[in-house]
Amino acid sequence: MTTLPPTTTQTGTPVPSDEHSLTAGSEGVTALHDRYLVEKLAQFNRERIPERIVHAKGGGAHGVFEVTGDVSAYTRAALFQPGARTDTLQRFSSVAGEQGSPDTWRDVRGFSVKFYTTEGNYDIVGNNTPVFFIRDGIKFPDFIHSQKRLPGSGLRDADMQWDFWTLSPESAHQVTYLMGDRGLPRSWRTMPGFGSHTYQWINAAGERFWVKYHFTSNQGNVEMEGAEAELIAGADADHYRRDLYEAIDAGDFPSWDVHVQVMPYDEGKTYRFNPFDLTKVWPHSDFPLIKVGTHTLNRNPGNFFAEIEQAAFSPANFVPGIAASPDKMLMARIFSYPDAQRYRVGTNYNQLPINAPQAPVNNYSQDGAARYHFNDASAPNYAPNSLGGPVADESLAGDGTWESDGALVRSAAILRADDDDFGQAGTLYRDVFDDAAKARFLETITGAVGGVTRPEVKERAIAYWTSVDAALGASLRLNLTDGDAEATSANVAAEPVGVGE
Ligand code: HEM
Repeated sequence: MTTLPPTTTQTGTPVPSDEHSLTAGSEGVTALHDRYLVEKLAQFNRERIPERIVHAKGGGAHGVFEVTGDVSAYTRAALFQPGARTDTLQRFSSVAGEQGSPDTWRDVRGFSVKFYTTEGNYDIVGNNTPVFFIRDGIKFPDFIHSQKRLPGSGLRDADMQWDFWTLSPESAHQVTYLMGDRGLPRSWRTMPGFGSHTYQWINAAGERFWVKYHFTSNQGNVEMEGAEAELIAGADADHYRRDLYEAIDAGDFPSWDVHVQVMPYDEGKTYRFNPFDLTKVWPHSDFPLIKVGTHTLNRNPGNFFAEIEQAAFSPANFVPGIAASPDKMLMARIFSYPDAQRYRVGTNYNQLPINAPQAPVNNYSQDGAARYHFNDASAPNYAPNSLGGPVADESLAGDGTWESDGALVRSAAILRADDDDFGQAGTLYRDVFDDAAKARFLETITGAVGGVTRPEVKERAIAYWTSVDAALGASLRLNLTDGDAEATSANVAAEPVGVGE
């Protein structure tokens, strides 16, 4: 017979019972000084941490990134050097729904990868779409409010979604992705990923380039139709999470080839549209994909809370040879994520095993709630010092630099020849969607716009799609006026249209 270890309090003292509280007589009042009962209930009450303000529902796995190409002419980052192999963590997510929401509600999907590189952690926090709804971070809280729930009823609401989108025409390209097949992937394994923003790469000679990341799924891009997605939402809310877990558990490791588009630094100033505008893609004909390597997921989390819920991905996590660009969205995100994580996980979240880098950490920060690792008490806790403490590496000062006229203003970027809100959305609809995809698209927007009750918002939505494509707008108007809307709007009202990126 094996001897089981005794249950103990959090401080290691054996406890007398896990079944009976201490009471005055077997049917009497409960004693407050039953410290194990109190500790057990109090600990339980504190099991939840705040869910992510967006991208709350998700799942993920550990993996490895292997470089097979040679992009050393563009970046000196160690993780992208030929032959490099780097441990990774990936998290997939839906954007708008809460923790328990069904995976198959129409939405953009998050695609986050943390690379534990020899030079510190590098995170790509992207989506399954290459663009986004807005181009200035100051609009993000309003955008998310419009896609989540009404403060009064706690319900999602087509009127506020379409009110925001139609008053923000820069959203058209991303809403076209969202309402198209990309809004309903069959699984996380069968969707692509994008860094979406333009980033800066810097090579060993200090030369700068602009890059965009593309992850192409080796499982192919496979989607599902709206009716099936609704059935799955009811039958198996965790469909994506289960699919990933079971595939990895069975040794069927999903992988993505990682590519970049590279734009010469100076072309960023003269290209025909603003290459730092997150609502635009760069045509592959101008900037072909260059293969860097392959990312493979091969290990499920052992503890979901520790390895997925407490994971903190951040666009602020760069390594030498990779930096930000003049994308206003990216700059807002660089503030937002570490701020969210200090609140959601705690000040010292980067000391948790899942967030801790595989590279040494040397700096002068100290203390704070739940601090776990401490510098040697004899080490100096200020810089500069003459006591041999760590010193900053001034050779990195050129990373993430660009020219600016220096004037502080509040204005949109200066328009270039091809900077418009609807052009690329129209190209996606006309040239990328085949006839069947176009038909599904019309049905989806008919249902979604059909759920709008305010006539002026509905009219603006028709004008919005007319600006994307005149024939599409005409078909939508016809559908909404001949009663088809009634037929499909019920579906979409029950299936909230998500937000993304
Ligand atoms: C999660 C803010 C735009 C992709 C989050 C979180 C915040 C946030 C606060 C929760 C972080 C956490 O608690 O760990 C913002 C702001 C944006 C923005 C302020 C615009 C200014 C974007 C864009 C993308 C994106 C453009 C993709 C291209 C994601 C993903 C997650 C996330 C994938 C989930 C990360 C994870 O798996 O833990 N965002 N976001 N966001 N965001 Fe954004």
